[in-house]
Parts: sequence; C-alpha cells; structure tokens
Amino acid sequence: MNFFTKDDKSAFEAITAAQFIAFAPIVFQATKSLRDLGILAAVEESRTIGLTLEEIYTKLKLSEYGVRVLLEAGLGIGLVVKNQDKYTITKTGLFILNDRMTNVNMDFTNDVCYEGMFSLTDSIKQGKPTGLKVLGDWPTVYEGLAHLPKPIQDSWFAFDHYYSDGSFDQALAELFKRKPKHILDIGGNTGKFTMKCLNYDADVKMTMFDLPGQLAMAKENIAKTPFADRVNYHPINILDDANRFPKGADAIWMSQFLDCFSEDEIVSILKRCHEAIAEDGSIYIMETFWDRQKFRPGAFSLQMTSLYFTNIANGNSQMYDSAVFNRLIDRAGFKVVEQIDNVGISHTIQVCKKK
Ligand SMILES: C[S@@+](CC[C@H](N)C(=O)[O-])C[C@H]1O[C@@H](n2cnc3c(N)ncnc32)[C@H](O)[C@@H]1O
Repeated sequence: MNFFTKDDKSAFEAITAAQFIAFAPIVFQATKSLRDLGILAAVEESRTIGLTLEEIYTKLKLSEYGVRVLLEAGLGIGLVVKNQDKYTITKTGLFILNDRMTNVNMDFTNDVCYEGMFSLTDSIKQGKPTGLKVLGDWPTVYEGLAHLPKPIQDSWFAFDHYYSDGSFDQALAELFKRKPKHILDIGGNTGKFTMKCLNYDADVKMTMFDLPGQLAMAKENIAKTPFADRVNYHPINILDDANRFPKGADAIWMSQFLDCFSEDEIVSILKRCHEAIAEDGSIYIMETFWDRQKFRPGAFSLQMTSLYFTNIANGNSQMYDSAVFNRLIDRAGFKVVEQIDNVGISHTIQVCKKK
C-alpha cells in the first residue's frame, strides 16, 4: 500500500503538523515525563471522574508548578483533556501508558537514539554513524551491543526482540515446510530463533553466525537447553568479504539482519550465501519493508527507524523499500520464489533460490 502519493492536508492541518515537528523533542520529553512520573497513570486510575491539578500533585508528592506545566503540555499534545478543573486521559494517552509497542519504541528512541540524533546532519554528510560516540567508541553499534550499559542495552534488545519475536512462530512453519536438515542462522543474536528451531524439529542442526560478543550470549542461553549438542557457533565479522561461509547447509535464515548493511554489503553477503548453500537449498530473508506495510503508522515507524541506522548503527543501512532490496537479491544470483507479507507485526518473508 502506498500512503505517500498525495498531499491531502488542508493548510490549517499542515501548519498544525509543522508545529508538532518544530516542538517534537519537547513533545517527546514531556510525554516521557508524564509517563515516567506517574501522572498519566494517576489520571487513568481516576477513569471518567478525573482528577484536579491539586489532587495529582498531592498524590504524587510533586510540585504544583512541575505537574502544571506537564499537564498543560499534555493538553496541547493530546494526552489529557480538562473539563471543570478535572483532567482525564485521552485515547492517545492510553496508548502511551499501556501499549507495549509504543513503549518499546519510546524507550529505544530515548535510550539509544535521542542524544546521538543531534548530529544526524553530520551523519548524512559523512556517511558515518556520528551519533554512536554518545554510546561508546565502536565502528558500528554491533561491536558494542554486548557491552552497552543498562538501560540502553535492555531498550535495544526489547526493540529488536519485540518485532522479531512476534513473527517467529509463523516463520518456523514456513521454514520447516521444506524440511531443512541444516540451517545457518546468520545474525542469530542471542539465539532465540535457533532455540525455537531446535525445539520445533528434533533432528535439525543449526549453525549460528554473529559477532563474538553476541555469540557468547547465545551460547550461554543455549547451554541451558537440552539442544546444545545440535548447535555450532561461527563467530564472524561478515563485513570482511574474505570471510567465506561453511558449505553444506540446505537453508539459510536471516531475520532483521540484512537491513544492518549497505546495498553493496548486502550483495556481498548474499553472494557468499550463494556459494555456501546447497544447489536446491533456500534462503529465507525476513525483513520489515516500509512499502509493504498495511498501515501508515507501520511505514512511518520504519522510515524513522532507518535514521537510527544512519546516525547510530552504522551510517549506511536502513529499513529498505522492497524494490531496492529485490534488485540486490537479483544482483547476487537469487530469485524470490515466494513472498509472504504481514508476518507478525510488520514483516515480510522472502524465500529465495538460486537463479
Ligand atoms: C537487528 S539484529 C537481528 C537479530 C535476530 N536475527 C532477530 O531477528 O531478532 C542484527 C544481528 O546482526 C548481527 N551483526 C551485525 N553486524 C554484524 C557483522 N558485521 N558480522 C556479524 N554479525 C553482525 C548483530 O550482532 C545482531 O545480532
């Protein structure tokens, strides 16, 4: 669905949207304060009766001034409404307070991206993740993942896992339709999907590829399961073109992985998959393409997430448009034989075979 072909706002709606953008960092931090200080929760608890300013600051032991400025901002943002001195929560306020996806996105934006994003323009000019230095001194965020302090690490993993976890069950059924015997899980991260495969099929063998820090975490997790003897670990920096892949697997699984790389890097990775995979084997790419979303907020979230890659992750990748991605699959010598959209919250699975 293409949501982006028409400018359908009136001039008044357009200037309103422009003000929301002009004050966006303040809108964001005010919303986070209203959530984190318990103000939205207190207002929600009062249901439709509502609470006065005095009732809220007394209950929360905060200053009258502090709660007043935040609630007045909340009126403007649309998180609360006020009738006869009583504040009640809006639908948007309820989502900010209770919706898991919104909270995962907000925490990721705040903890991982917010400070770094100040230098987004430099990232674009230099083609480098200039915001990453706020988190640590690594060439890409991936070398730093295992060493990020909390809550930054928790917010990163919560964001990553929230989206992929919701797709894994449907993905498993798809992957095992062709009864693979040996699967490479490239970018296997903490081992969640590898463990699901081992549990799903009592005979399947798995080989996990990832950077050494992530593989150490995966190994620790998998060691606690009865499947540990069916897993091999292959520490690799996949960016080094000279690092070839072991041969013999009949399926390669890459979930939320290729979006971590530039177009030429993706082609290099896929070419190495081509060399390694059995002649009639399949590669499974699970990605979130912004142009394949059913709903506009889904596409919006992905378009914004792209800039995390630009400024924090690596400076050169993104959440791709599927048309760009399909050209890369073709350049690497594969064809898409099946495409399944709307997997989990926002994923597409592409099943590819050698051309
Ligand atoms: C966004 S996570 C996806 C994890 C998992 N597959 C999922 O669906 O949740 C990307 C993974 O790619 C790994 N990765 C990134 N750059 C890498 C590199 N240069 N070499 C090997 N692995 C890399 C990261 O460590 C991380 O585990």
